[in-house]
Amino acid sequence: MAWSSVNRIEIAGELPVLRIAVEVRSRMPFRTPMLAICAFEDGHQDHHSQRIDEFMGGIVTQLRSGGEITGKRNTVTVIHNPLLNPLIASGEEPRFAADRLAVIGMGKSSDMNLEAVRVFAALAANKARELRLPSFALHPSKDLGSPADAVGQALAEGAILALYRYDRFKSEDKDDRPPEIGQISILPGERDVDPGLAKGVADGEKLAAATITARDLATGPANLVTATHLGERARELAAAHGFSATIFGKAELQEMGCGGILAVNSGSAEPPVMGVLRYDCGRPGARTLAVVGKGVTFDTGGISIKPASDMHFMRHDKSGACAVLGFMQAAATMQLPINVLGIFGATDNMPSGSAYRPGDVIRSYSGKNMEILNTDAEGRVVLADCLAYAVEQKPDAIVDMATLTGACVVALGHACSGLFSNNDALSAGLVQAGEAAGERLWRMPLWDEYREQIKAPLGDIKNIGGQAAGAITAAWFLANFVGDTPWAHLDIAGTAWTEGSWAVTPPYLQRDMATGVGVRLLTHFAQAWA
Ligand code: BES
Ligand code: MN
Ligand code: ZN
Repeated sequence: MAWSSVNRIEIAGELPVLRIAVEVRSRMPFRTPMLAICAFEDGHQDHHSQRIDEFMGGIVTQLRSGGEITGKRNTVTVIHNPLLNPLIASGEEPRFAADRLAVIGMGKSSDMNLEAVRVFAALAANKARELRLPSFALHPSKDLGSPADAVGQALAEGAILALYRYDRFKSEDKDDRPPEIGQISILPGERDVDPGLAKGVADGEKLAAATITARDLATGPANLVTATHLGERARELAAAHGFSATIFGKAELQEMGCGGILAVNSGSAEPPVMGVLRYDCGRPGARTLAVVGKGVTFDTGGISIKPASDMHFMRHDKSGACAVLGFMQAAATMQLPINVLGIFGATDNMPSGSAYRPGDVIRSYSGKNMEILNTDAEGRVVLADCLAYAVEQKPDAIVDMATLTGACVVALGHACSGLFSNNDALSAGLVQAGEAAGERLWRMPLWDEYREQIKAPLGDIKNIGGQAAGAITAAWFLANFVGDTPWAHLDIAGTAWTEGSWAVTPPYLQRDMATGVGVRLLTHFAQAWA
């Protein structure tokens, strides 16, 4: 055991379970501390919202004409309902029973998409939490522009993911924290209850739980979330949700010839792991999607060591592997109609007397020789083994996810992940899924010209290609290990976590934490790909 008992932090108690119940109710009046409704920038109003305003004495209309409520995206106006308590005290049956109204600005009604729905639910959830309410309700306008099941899923995703916190190590200020919200009700309004809504809500709950699995592991500090820990969690998740997990340890990786994972691991006191997970949907003729994740539990850069400032963020360098685990959970719990092969390579990247060096030549699982010119370009070295292993299993397509390059962040910032692929149809499906999931992708070129940059003096291929087009040469490195299999690489370096200094963070993400990017994207993709 590499860690002394003092250094090792245990998770206190059980692993977190999702305690928020989301339900669909058809009948008004419904007593709730807060009901959130939609306000559109163009003044559009659905029938139910109009009725609610009437019950509130026309206050919404009044605030609109006074310019206090504009309907602009990301605005929240809370209005108390002074009519309710006197009414109840007088023994009368109220026709509208919310203590407060939260009027959520939606932007223009012509611009509605699923992301707007998620943001609506997330803004309401954040407001309810800020007000320390035990529960709240959402009235989704009829005019959100998507089918009921997709709206239900987006509402549950947005609300639950907004309320997520990583606070297991906060032992001091527990009393300052608001009580947890246990119940979220969705009130579509009488007569408008589409059965698809409840099904969508149930899917959204499962998908949020799977995303939280990925967030927890990716945010987790590197002294806790080691490669061994990722392997253990993979086994636990497999047993809990109904997929299989084979975890290869160091000796097995040596036997298999996984030279890439072993080289990156060689400076470490923690053993490496390769996880192979399988979800079988049980449908004859179903397609198999392989998902491959970079699981570098901490990236110091190794001998080509990184500067000290901001190095702590490199605990998130396992985000690709965490997304694989979250996606496996989503596939199994949502019973996605495809087979999934999940593969991750996990190790930290440490400098030491036994570490791999610039100039080393490493034989990968595929048999190709990788010439190492920078030990900080380690993700591709780990993924080389994982991708070659995936290809052997003959999946219909491979999607890998990796916090691979700072160059991708320079190119695209934090608003999308980079997409690199040898297949147009696969790319188009992923881009579309990204739009629906609110996890956007932007495709980058993989022209032959760039490939020249990674031709090696000694080996078959070198692991860096110079300053220019760094995200693309990294993708080309990976492309060398997938052959003709339809493949897409997602560089999630700019989207896997958030930083407090960023200009824009959607209200269902937490600042300075992992986002769980990839889980919702691949789930949306799998639903369409089937
Ligand atoms: N994990 C990093 C990439 C990274 C950097 C992700 C910043 C998120 C934020 C990766 O292993 C790495 O160090 N890449 C190098 C490659 C270079 C040596 C060719 C980089 O991007 O600088
Ligand atoms: Mn690195
Ligand atoms: Zn890395």
